[in-house]
Amino acid sequence: MYSRFYLSVLLISGLVLITFLVFATYRELNPEWKKYQLEYRDLLIKNAPNEAARKKAKSIKIEHQQIYIKPLKKVDRCMNCHRGVDDPLMKDAKVPHKLHSGDYLKKHPVSKFGCTLCHYGQGRATNKKDAHGKGRDTHWDYPLIPFKYIQSSCAKCHDYLFLKDNGGEMVVEGERLFREKGCRGCHKLNGVGGDLGKPLDIIGSQPIAYFPMKYVVGERNTYNWLKQHFLDPRKIVPGSEMRVFLSEKEADLLTTYTLTLRAEEMPRQFRAIRYTTPVPKDGESLYKMYCVACHGNGKISAYDEILKRTIPAIMNPAFLKIADDKNLERIIKEGRKGTPMTSWKRTAAGLRDEEIRNIIKFITKDRPDERPEPFDYKRFVTDTKHGKELFNVRCALCHGKDGKGGKDHLGLNLRNPAVQKFVDPEFLAMTIRDGRKGTPMPAFGKTGVGLSDQDIADLVAYIRSFSDKGKK
Ligand code: HEC
Ligand code: HEC
Ligand code: HEC
Ligand code: HEC
Ligand code: HEC
Ligand code: HEC
Repeated sequence: MYSRFYLSVLLISGLVLITFLVFATYRELNPEWKKYQLEYRDLLIKNAPNEAARKKAKSIKIEHQQIYIKPLKKVDRCMNCHRGVDDPLMKDAKVPHKLHSGDYLKKHPVSKFGCTLCHYGQGRATNKKDAHGKGRDTHWDYPLIPFKYIQSSCAKCHDYLFLKDNGGEMVVEGERLFREKGCRGCHKLNGVGGDLGKPLDIIGSQPIAYFPMKYVVGERNTYNWLKQHFLDPRKIVPGSEMRVFLSEKEADLLTTYTLTLRAEEMPRQFRAIRYTTPVPKDGESLYKMYCVACHGNGKISAYDEILKRTIPAIMNPAFLKIADDKNLERIIKEGRKGTPMTSWKRTAAGLRDEEIRNIIKFITKDRPDERPEPFDYKRFVTDTKHGKELFNVRCALCHGKDGKGGKDHLGLNLRNPAVQKFVDPEFLAMTIRDGRKGTPMPAFGKTGVGLSDQDIADLVAYIRSFSDKGKK
């Protein structure tokens, strides 16, 4: 009884195994690429200009094709289906048999470069789906790159000066945008830049699993993630503080550029880099690189819905009149901890003193000549308690009861050691007295609300008492 049962089980498993083996053998003998090579041979025969060529075409072997890129220990088998890429007779054929467009393969011989150095895809694979790495279930991190971003590959081996006129203009344009849109206000590159977002040095070679794909439309690959995130960061990463406003075209350019930021370096025999691109060092260029993303043209003080706080107007004459270079340098160097305003000094965001001075020169180019009436803070005997009473009535509405500003508050964070410790009390006093014309910050002195100098000194004392660190 039992033995018959086991016998049938054995029989069935045996059959399954045999079917599987037959299938596997069939697959082995008839790989997907064979079909394409047969098509290729037929095309060769059909297109043959003369009898000799036809004869030759008939005798070509249908066989496994592979290129070994020795310095990289990489194998490309794309030629299994794309045998015609290098064959002028295939000029009018259809892909995959078609002769490669342009003179890319003349400049980069297939035997040395293969295909994946430019196109990505999975070089070892011999079926189309895996080789192209496309589709939801291929799990290949670097699928074929869409043509609109393919220029990013050129930057692995060529410099910008060369690429500008030799088929890599999208990389060059993208790099310029990267600087002018102020991406480095929030991202470090080569150790320099803000820290609201992560460093981007190797973002282009991060595996797919690194990116949260949930909200990506279409194929879930890095290319689509980058583009869609540029167009609308909060759609791809809900709540993102990335503050960019880009057109479709700009998003494509920046996708191309960010894809050039990769971990691996090409071996010497592949690199044709002659010039390193100089980074502009003048104040305006630096302002764009590091400050423009948040401060814009510097003239508008407004509550920002993305950062959920006010971004102050740092080129507003009323601000510049009171903030002398010394205070500006301190503010920029120390930043405002706890706000998106990074500390820009060498040991933090990585700017050199000279660069910060150049930025200050640019910010202050329209500083009014008239100096503010001085405020001799040290002359006053201050009453912190009185300052607190005044603060709660006059200031808390905008700066928050705790002085922290931020979410749902127009005023800046005054509880910040960077405000209390690093700027002069005179700067605070003059700001409170004269306000910031053109922004919501009112003038509280005689010409405005009518507080006395003593009241203002008390307010300053209170602000400076917010934390122990604030005391001199
Ligand atoms: C098993 C056959 C096969 C292999 C292997 C293969 N391809 Fe293809 N490839 C095709 C076919 C067929 C097409 C035509 C378009 C299609 O059917 O997707 C194609 C199209 C392409 C295209 C054009 C895509 C487009 O959007 O127009 C590129 C680029 C390409 N292949 C590159 C590669 C690279 C790089 C490799 C190696 C990593 C590779 N292919 C390996 C069969 C293959
Ligand atoms: C030096 C970089 C580079 C290499 C190497 C390279 N390609 Fe391309 N390939 C390109 C570029 C760039 C395009 C886009 C063509 C254009 O816009 O003119 C392209 C286009 C294609 C296309 C689109 C069809 C067409 O119009 O020609 C196919 C298919 C293709 N390549 C296959 C391959 C295969 C297969 C290999 C390897 C044998 C390869 N390429 C090697 C850069 C390269
Ligand atoms: C893997 C490295 C690599 C990639 C990727 C690559 N190239 Fe090249 N390219 C080279 C090398 C090496 C040479 C030979 C340069 C030399 O002899 O100085 C070359 C030569 C060229 C030349 C001819 C230069 C001349 O002076 O004759 C052009 C044009 C060119 N590449 C454009 C491109 C473009 C456009 C791309 C992207 C689609 C690209 N390359 C991708 C390495 C690369
Ligand atoms: C106001 C600050 C800010 C600016 C300006 C900014 N970003 Fe971001 N960026 C972020 C933050 C925060 C994140 C993390 C949240 C997210 O993924 O959206 C981020 C994420 C990214 C990511 C994904 C990084 C990763 O490791 O997951 C890329 C790529 C990126 N930014 C590129 C750029 C580029 C390119 C620009 C310039 C056009 C730019 N960013 C400007 C704040 C900023
Ligand atoms: C990621 C956004 C962001 C970037 C990039 C940024 N800032 Fe700021 N900045 C802010 C915010 C927000 C504040 C207000 C902080 C607070 O609440 O105290 C601020 C404050 C300031 C202040 C103080 C203004 C005042 O009213 O006291 C100065 C000066 C300043 N930034 C200069 C710069 C400079 C120069 C750069 C470029 C090197 C820069 N910022 C880059 C967001 C940014
Ligand atoms: C109507 C809203 C509002 C009120 C009320 C207000 N502020 Fe402000 N305050 C602001 C805004 C907005 C700014 C930033 C303006 C800019 O863009 O430069 C600011 C800036 C400041 C600054 C400069 C901070 C820095 O980082 O440079 C100080 C100091 C300050 N306020 C103190 C006070 C004090 C003290 C009071 C009460 C006596 C007060 N503010 C009342 C809105 C207000």
